[in-house]
Amino acid sequence: MTYIVTGGAGFIGSNFIFYMRSAHPDDRIVCLDKLTYAGNLSTLKSVMDDPHFRFVKLDICDREGVYALFEEEKPDAVINFAAESHVDRSIENPSIFLETNIIGTSVLMDACRIFGNIRYHQVSTDEVYGDLPLDRPDLFFTEETPIHTSSPYSSSKAGADLLVLAYKRTYGLPVTISRCSNNYGPYHFPEKLIPLMIINCLHDKPLPVYGEGLNVRDWLYVEDHCKAIDLVLQKGRIGEVYNIGGHNEMRNIDIVRLICAELHKPESLITHVTDRKGHDMRYAIDPTKIHNELGWLPETKFENGIRQTIAWYLSHEDWWSEIISGEYQNYYQVMYANR
Ligand code: NAD
Ligand code: DAU
Repeated sequence: MTYIVTGGAGFIGSNFIFYMRSAHPDDRIVCLDKLTYAGNLSTLKSVMDDPHFRFVKLDICDREGVYALFEEEKPDAVINFAAESHVDRSIENPSIFLETNIIGTSVLMDACRIFGNIRYHQVSTDEVYGDLPLDRPDLFFTEETPIHTSSPYSSSKAGADLLVLAYKRTYGLPVTISRCSNNYGPYHFPEKLIPLMIINCLHDKPLPVYGEGLNVRDWLYVEDHCKAIDLVLQKGRIGEVYNIGGHNEMRNIDIVRLICAELHKPESLITHVTDRKGHDMRYAIDPTKIHNELGWLPETKFENGIRQTIAWYLSHEDWWSEIISGEYQNYYQVMYANR
């Protein structure tokens, strides 16, 4: 099998590539990534010389480039991780989110249609369901929960999801969608809550908690997400949506306190800052469908996963310090200058 994995130089896409190389060593992975600020080729250095792996620097919105790659590689399946993924950036500049997340998705699916009705999987998010109230812990997002978005980011992901389902109905494209809750783990870009707090703690810098920090997120270790996507890809029913989450709800403030405690830093570093505009209160996934149909269950408990993650950041300072200094953006130039 040959898989095109888009956005594989980012957080979840890179973890998915590592997982797939070890779970399916005979399969070939072609990683297509534009290397935006969030894409870091040094993340993929352990697979760069693997004969079952190829990296291609390409924008998913570049129709000509995408078609040429499909013609050359003749993929059996496409897994689309490529996206603008940060809610705060979408509030500052929505347009790039619409381009990559919606137009880019349509270009990939057009390529799938044209080059042989190729299997397509869309990596989506629980944010398409909007949020849940804090005083109704009995409520969860199921696959039947109406789409009800809050931010330009979540709206662009919801737009893409609708397009994916439309390509199934209109053209018969063999698609699936997975909607996952918040991931954490290695190679998480340090603009997101957990890595940002770890790195600021290490530098004794203020820990900027939005508002009161009472917002709840449902955290899942990234490898559990990757395993779920693999299962949906291999055994999921065509045209279906699968929610992915592990019933692990935490308030932001409690996550930040836990990181302070693990790193032996004072909670006085916590600084409450102006809240995010339109800030979603609570996300909580009901993963019954993927459990019942595909037998998926999360394997990493949060107390272990967060310790592993903190340990990873402690032992990979070279990775995140290059991001903070901006040095990683020269990596492609260095890696490819003589190729
Ligand atoms: P990320 O921001 O870490 O990585 C995104 C990757 O996509 C980067 O490598 C970037 O260079 C690439 N990219 C961006 N625009 C591109 C374009 N136009 N063409 C080609 N490549 C492009 O994101 P992530 O956190 O790894 O998220 C991956 C996917 O999972 C996204 O679709 C996101 O919506 C979804 N998701 C993320 C989470 C989470 O907690 N991080 C949870 C659920 C779903
Ligand atoms: O639920 C899945 C989504 O999770 C994904 O679709 C997104 O791509 C991913 O970025 C993530 O979105 P969030 O907005 O939940 O993640 P973020 O890490 O930006 O923020 C988590 C919570 O922490 C949120 O309530 C905002 C808060 N926060 C975040 C930052 C960066 C802070 O309080 N301070 C911060 O500095």
